[in-house]
Amino acid sequence: MTPVEAPVPYLDLPQQIRSLRKELDAAIARALDNCTFCLGPDVAQFEKDFAHFCGAEHCVGFNNGTSALHVAMRLLNVGPGDEVITTPFTFIATSWAICYVGARPIFVDIDDATFNLDPKLVEGAITSRTRAILPVHLYGHPADLDPLLEISRKHKIPIIEDAAQAHGAKYRGRRVGTFGRMSCFSFYPGKNLGACGESGALVTNDGALAIRARALRDHGSTQRYYHDEIGFNYRMEGIQGAVLTVKLRHLDIWTRERRRVAHRYHELLADCSMQLPQEAAYAESAWHLYVVRLPRRDELKRLLEGSQIGCGMHYPVPLHLQKAFAHLDYKPGDFPVAEKAARECLSLPIYPELTETQLHRVTNVIRDFCQQRLRPEAMKQPVH
Ligand SMILES: Cc1ncc(COP(=O)(O)O)c(C=O)c1O
Repeated sequence: MTPVEAPVPYLDLPQQIRSLRKELDAAIARALDNCTFCLGPDVAQFEKDFAHFCGAEHCVGFNNGTSALHVAMRLLNVGPGDEVITTPFTFIATSWAICYVGARPIFVDIDDATFNLDPKLVEGAITSRTRAILPVHLYGHPADLDPLLEISRKHKIPIIEDAAQAHGAKYRGRRVGTFGRMSCFSFYPGKNLGACGESGALVTNDGALAIRARALRDHGSTQRYYHDEIGFNYRMEGIQGAVLTVKLRHLDIWTRERRRVAHRYHELLADCSMQLPQEAAYAESAWHLYVVRLPRRDELKRLLEGSQIGCGMHYPVPLHLQKAFAHLDYKPGDFPVAEKAARECLSLPIYPELTETQLHRVTNVIRDFCQQRLRPEAMKQPVH
């Protein structure tokens, strides 16, 4: 098979791991030799490096991003009867954290251009029970933070950034992760910075919050066998700390390469009749995902998959319509922008290693689809 015909995976982790194999082997071997499996020096090193990367004072390593979000809720003492405002268009974990502490997610619709929480709608959702605002930097594109911060200051309601998909993304030139009281990251393997397993982090400039976060992730203790409050076993594994320390050194180059791929998609798909993702004037996206929108999304998805080109849907069902949230009594039509995005979104392959040949292979299939099936007259015909 020539490269022109070769399958294009949605994500190519094996290639990334191959290129780092020597560095990773050495780092993991050191962790094995030292038997530092739970927290330990490699995690401490990563915490220091990642805090520095974000421009933050503290980073606390977790076993995954969901745990970090859960602890963030606990740090703000959010509990039963409280409300947290967030987006209905995100990975479900954003909202789990709110539910874990017995609070209620209050969804507000998203901005059609960026897929992120629409700041204009947030103030109207605030009640006397609102304890936090939880924007997500979805697909690596920063949420519009200035108006959210203004609302936060005005109503004295803290912001927690869900930066699980946005390592290194910039808002008005500054990396996301330090705008809110705290921020949470995921290092799930497919993320822009991914562990060899599960991992996450909580980042903050507030020293007191960081101390309590360290205790909460480790059974609520600062001193072994003394437990000041009910805590969790949410510790980052030593080996993941070692892996992430190695990978972090490559993140800036990877982000640059992701930006190259996004830029090429923009150019190669410019004349296609579909909505391409854009960066807002305030944003430098980390391009975790490249998500196009079109009404006949399912047809294009089938065509790409039939051509052995990986693609995904992030996300096909908005949170307010998930079965798990039936008890919240939302209904179809409550958040029309998010619902439309869920019907139309299609994620194309994007990763630093994606070649020009692969880009052409993906975009040729899409361009053919657009020319043959999305012409105005073709739109009228059902396609079989
Ligand atoms: C937006 C968002 N929030 C939270 C999470 C949860 O992170 P993790 O999978 O590490 O628990 C993810 C990751 O999948 C995510 O994409």
